[in-house]
Amino acid sequence: MVWNIGPIKVDGPVVLGPMSGYTSRGYRDFMKPFGVAVSVTEMTSAVGIKNADFKTVDYVSFDRNYPTGLQLFGHSAEDISEAATKALASNPNIDFFDINMGCPVHKILRSGAGSVLMKDPELCERIVSMVKENTGLPVTAKIRLGSDRNHMNYMDVIEHLQSAGVDAITVHARTKDQGYSGYPDFEEVRDLRDRMDVPLIISGNIYSLDNAIDAMDITGADAVMVARGGVGNPFLVTQIDEYYRSGERLPNPTVHQQIEWCIQLADMLIDEKGEECAVRKLRSIAPKFVSGCHRCREYRLRLATETDDRQSMVGILEEIDARMGLEQINTDGRRTYYNI
Ligand SMILES: Cc1cc2nc3c(=O)[nH]c(=O)nc-3n(C[C@H](O)[C@H](O)[C@H](O)COP(=O)(O)O)c2cc1C
Repeated sequence: MVWNIGPIKVDGPVVLGPMSGYTSRGYRDFMKPFGVAVSVTEMTSAVGIKNADFKTVDYVSFDRNYPTGLQLFGHSAEDISEAATKALASNPNIDFFDINMGCPVHKILRSGAGSVLMKDPELCERIVSMVKENTGLPVTAKIRLGSDRNHMNYMDVIEHLQSAGVDAITVHARTKDQGYSGYPDFEEVRDLRDRMDVPLIISGNIYSLDNAIDAMDITGADAVMVARGGVGNPFLVTQIDEYYRSGERLPNPTVHQQIEWCIQLADMLIDEKGEECAVRKLRSIAPKFVSGCHRCREYRLRLATETDDRQSMVGILEEIDARMGLEQINTDGRRTYYNI
């Protein structure tokens, strides 16, 4: 149960996945009490940090209340290690650095960063080695299986990362070409942990406790990464954490609990970003809190389109609560959508 990122003792099987546009400080702080053992910031440009006036760089500021890594993307070992050193000087609360070697987004690939790095395992090794040497902090990396089904070089990359002294590796079990759709191929990485010298965090389609158990069992991973599956379903983290502590399968939450958590997240994001910006973001997050329950399609639509401020959002949420607060969220982790 307890595993390590270098000298950091991690007490729990759930890592909160970095998600650009979602996993800001407010979101991470909201998710933590549900049982997140480690979290990672959304990816941050190494070149951006190098050139930044720190007063304007919010990504790198957070408190030390639980292990949090700053994720960096870039294409040169020099840029990334310089950015890491500068970020650490600005925020001594950074516990470790995570290097993005898996992003499939065009804009990032064009700049030679993200999953492009996997084409050059020596470069991956150099990046980890330089960041470790220059910051003295643990360094993790997040990779995919490879570029496509015919170029799955994850093992070569893992070996180079280990030579550099990487402290843990997240494997998102999809290829770059799959983007975020299609099924992760956990069979490809069956028993991968046995072939590795450092902790493995496994990622891909973790929407339910059973998804997490399967991914961990098949690969032998030390931890599982909750990403999209936790958006609007924070209790998934608790269900996974509790299962690995006690073997107990906790029931899904009620609509009432979901509504309470949604309002709590809204307030934390409003605190962080201001009401206008937070409510804009919440239009895509709040509907996910009321999916998987009976007759809530209309409410999801209203949450996405009729929320101009906190008051209007909370008004809709309270209406939902009054109508079906006691209802349990559908037990199918994939969330069946009922027709009204
Ligand atoms: C909107 C979005 C943004 C993401 N941003 C990042 C990121 O900044 N850095 C990163 O390493 N992975 C990022 N990911 C990948 C996730 O961390 C995770 O590995 C991936 O979504 C697979 O897990 P899932 O299928 O359970 O969501 C992102 C994924 C999504 C959907």
